[in-house]
Amino acid sequence: MTDKLWGGRFAEDITQDVLDYTLTVDVDERLVFADLWQSVAHVLMLGARKIVPAEAARDLLGALLRLRDQSENGRLRLRPELEDVHFNIEQQVIEDLGREVGGHLQTARSRNDQVSTDARMYLRRVQLDAVEANLELIGELLGFPEEELLAILPGYTHGQAAQPISVAFWKTAHASLLLRDVRRLRGAFDRTDESPLGACALAGTSFPLDRQVTARLLGFRAVLSHALDATSARDYLIESASAFAIGGNNLSRMAEEIVVWSGHEHSLVEVQDAYATGSSIMPQKKNPVVAELARGRAGRTAGTLVQLLTMAKGVTLGYSCDLQEDKPYLWHAIDAYLSTLRIVAGQTRGLRFDGARGEELCWDNFSTATELANHLTAGGLAFREAHHVSGALVSALIRRGATLRDTAASAEILAGLGHPVPEPVLARIFAPRTAVTGYTSPGGTSPRSVTAVRAELRAAVTAY
Ligand code: ARG
Repeated sequence: MTDKLWGGRFAEDITQDVLDYTLTVDVDERLVFADLWQSVAHVLMLGARKIVPAEAARDLLGALLRLRDQSENGRLRLRPELEDVHFNIEQQVIEDLGREVGGHLQTARSRNDQVSTDARMYLRRVQLDAVEANLELIGELLGFPEEELLAILPGYTHGQAAQPISVAFWKTAHASLLLRDVRRLRGAFDRTDESPLGACALAGTSFPLDRQVTARLLGFRAVLSHALDATSARDYLIESASAFAIGGNNLSRMAEEIVVWSGHEHSLVEVQDAYATGSSIMPQKKNPVVAELARGRAGRTAGTLVQLLTMAKGVTLGYSCDLQEDKPYLWHAIDAYLSTLRIVAGQTRGLRFDGARGEELCWDNFSTATELANHLTAGGLAFREAHHVSGALVSALIRRGATLRDTAASAEILAGLGHPVPEPVLARIFAPRTAVTGYTSPGGTSPRSVTAVRAELRAAVTAY
């Protein structure tokens, strides 16, 4: 027999290496609150159902609440030799009350239902924190100043200038996709918010448990009934990791735009000084490090998803120790995702877009060639023909080293192509601002469309 809580059938203790290899006290720090509260709920139920004597239940509650106080004062230390948070709390209750009373705590409970209950309780908090942080960022994006409805940016496809858009259009695009991250997180929350407590080791128990009561006390929406499923399931956790990975990727794509557009060649946006750092050698540098890291940290969230899928795929139903590998990486992903969401909200608040620069670039980069095709189409030409004429104009201008600014050259080339358009008309249709104000289709870049989309998004946000 060893002095471990499980020591009855053992003749010798584990070696230090084995302990070091198997313990989870470090990652379990985040589960202390959950383990204590679920123990309180469990004991209340055990007492009410007379599974343990009333006085024992009362004493157990006293001991647990003392541990809760210690924990809140930062004085609850998890001892590595006790392997994990569950054994730590049980051991400390036993040290407080003696084995006769303290030994009742683990009646009709296993670390297998316990660890999943803890993880779900912690994860629910994180999911709601992530929803809140997303809403904060969405609020920043939707709170754009009115002038950004007409502040121009080149819109890109294939990394090539495509059509002019407005800064407000870009911001609402990110708000729109982040709202899906919110929905995904809420979906993951619903499937996390089910109580495995009372499933015991895997097969349930002969004690007359009331699983509804413990679930309700811990704020779970429902009981996850099937004991084997409840102790084995990690899909709720993988689903969360997936929501974090997708969210991380979305933030990374926005970050990439900031990094590229803040470079000298684009000069479309400048991050606030407080969100950039300088170089040890090159005095001119202003590096958008927050955006770079928001992009880089998406590696952690993506990596965690793959790690969890790989970790779980070979585990038969019923707990196996592989499953304890879920937490360390998930914690990293959580920290990466939440910290990125929060800092990106701050960075977004301080972004300064240069709409005049965007407008200049759009005059030069042929972004409004589609407008000529549309104009000719409105005049009766088939769009495919009009596309051809417009393409021929672009090609001829490029050969001359000219751009759509050169309306005289354009008028002459078009006349030569048999499709004369007066210069003042060209000046109007090639102006980036004309495109931006004119794209009034639902969801388009015009101020009217963007304002309507913003209202839709705001209404959707209030649902949370
Ligand atoms: N520390 C373990 C984990 O993190 C708790 C569950 C252990 N259960 C067991 N039967 N070994 O997953």
